Amino acid sequence: MEKKKLIRLAIQAMERSYSPYSGFRVGAALLGKSGQIYQGCNIENAAYTPTNCAERTAFFKAVSEGEREFEAICIAGGKDGVLTGFTAPCGVCRQVMMEFCDPETFQIILARSESDWREYRLKELLPEGFGPGNLA
Ligand code: THU
Repeated sequence: MEKKKLIRLAIQAMERSYSPYSGFRVGAALLGKSGQIYQGCNIENAAYTPTNCAERTAFFKAVSEGEREFEAICIAGGKDGVLTGFTAPCGVCRQVMMEFCDPETFQIILARSESDWREYRLKELLPEGFGPGNLA
């Protein structure tokens, strides 16, 4: 996996964020097992609750294109698009990851730049997660 490329694509996706209400711009780049990369940005709404996070935008794009297995996601975000801190996925997005990813291996990369990033496995960010296996 080319981490720098994934980071670059997440930061690029952030530029397309539609976030007039919070001003918090987020971009994501999701690597499928096919090798295809899906970009996503947060898309806000005047009614607030229909807002979609960057991560879920990327996942829903990918799944709707037929990809269901994933290796890694990179997330970059900040107020007015300034990458001051590391933007971690919200609880709802972690749960969507749990649906399609192996918590032991799926990598979540939080990036401030191509050389400044942190990396986690899904099981670290969603311990004891509830997933499809529980219903099997
Ligand atoms: N947001 C994301 O897109 N991803 C995250 O990981 C955290 C939050 C968005 C949702 C909303 O548009 C804005 O950031 C502020 O919460």
